[in-house]
Amino acid sequence: MKLLVFLAASLAAILARPSYAGAPATACTSDCKIENNCRCSRRSGPFDGDITEYPQLITLTFDDAVTTKTYQLWYDLLMSRTNPDGNAIGATFYVPHEYTDYQKVNELYNYGFEIAVHSITKNPLQSYWRTASENTLEQEFGGQKQIISKFANIPLEEIQGVRTPQLQLSGNNTISAYRASDLSYDSSWPTLPSKPLFPYTLDYLSTQDCNLGSTCPNEAFPGFWVLPIMDLNGPHGGWCNSLSSCNMTGTADQIADWLCNEIVKVKDNTRVPLTLSVNSYWFEFTNNSLAGLTQCLDTLQDSSDVFLVTHKQVIDWVKNPVKLADFQTEDASNQVSNCNEYNCSLMKDGKTMYMKTCVSCPAAYPWLGNPNGDPK
Ligand SMILES: *[C@@H]1O[C@H](CO)[C@@H](O)[C@H](O)[C@H]1NC(C)=O
Ligand SMILES: *[C@@H]1O[C@H](CO)[C@@H](O)[C@H](O)[C@H]1NC(C)=O
Ligand SMILES: *[C@@H]1O[C@H](CO)[C@@H](O)[C@H](O)[C@H]1NC(C)=O
Ligand SMILES: *[C@@H]1O[C@H](CO)[C@@H](O)[C@H](O)[C@H]1NC(C)=O
Repeated sequence: MKLLVFLAASLAAILARPSYAGAPATACTSDCKIENNCRCSRRSGPFDGDITEYPQLITLTFDDAVTTKTYQLWYDLLMSRTNPDGNAIGATFYVPHEYTDYQKVNELYNYGFEIAVHSITKNPLQSYWRTASENTLEQEFGGQKQIISKFANIPLEEIQGVRTPQLQLSGNNTISAYRASDLSYDSSWPTLPSKPLFPYTLDYLSTQDCNLGSTCPNEAFPGFWVLPIMDLNGPHGGWCNSLSSCNMTGTADQIADWLCNEIVKVKDNTRVPLTLSVNSYWFEFTNNSLAGLTQCLDTLQDSSDVFLVTHKQVIDWVKNPVKLADFQTEDASNQVSNCNEYNCSLMKDGKTMYMKTCVSCPAAYPWLGNPNGDPK
């Protein structure tokens, strides 16, 4: 009897799964309602009246491996900053696997930052991501979600965001792989400053331009969110989707002025949520970049309507777009997940890799197809 009930429940669960396989996305209609977790891709924001009554949301994002060195940089940049409501700021870490110290990832999580998925390999070849099969991508993204959850001891359901390396989407395959990995939003799709877009879902056909040589999805993926990355205007003309690719040079004052001016333009014109991608190599290769960014963030702290939040909070706000007077960031700094530290020494391709974890060391270095690091 118990078995029958179980089978019936499983069957019901399978039948209840939304079936989206193969359905081509069509132009968005008025059936798409935010109450149903649906939003058309469009330039207008979820505002009712004057945009100045609403918060400007900004998400600082990081997609380098979390190491002792990068952790220290980020710690100095982010800690002790607060939003206008007095809560600690948010930021989102898209974590790649190789060289990552999962004890440090656990610390970032416990400070209230959002932990999301980058990939296992962070393969530097654009063509790899552009042409990857759904199965490879599921191993990359779903595998990394599992690795983070297990080794940094973070509940699986807390890991919802994903960014593809090099921002190279492989069309429907990428989103199918995200869905199969139980991920619910993407931050890999850039848009030009002249075409600002608010976050939207892929229930219907996206109106976003497909740049960078990616293939963009055109199948319907109900309830899956896209957080467009709006490019900044580089100081020499041209657009850039990460701070390092803007080629801004100069004194800390000059870098801060350029960046803050870009942010003020967005705040004054559209209040579209901004994603600022911060690569650690920018700090290594551009003099004064860290000081300039720090200075601009310091200046922003004087504005009563600019909030540094996680991507998760951006989506929450789009679903419930309250005005400044009612806007409250989450104080997530009380989430606590234990970490019993282990420094694991594991072989990968004949090389010793050190991996810090919150659980006892695996038998093998976790990798594609073996995220748990099971014995080979
Ligand atoms: C994505 O899926 C849709 C629906 O099946 C299909 O029409 C379209 O050709 C696919 N796109 C690519 C690039 O494979
Ligand atoms: C930055 O420099 C690179 C290499 O010269 C160039 O390809 C890119 O377009 C520049 N980006 C901007 C925003 O000017
Ligand atoms: C960066 O600063 C160092 C030390 O002041 C200087 O030697 C170097 O030429 C600078 N690099 C650039 C690209 O300006
Ligand atoms: C882990 O142990 C190795 C070997 O003792 C050491 O070289 C490395 O610095 C340790 N890693 C960390 C992050 O403590």
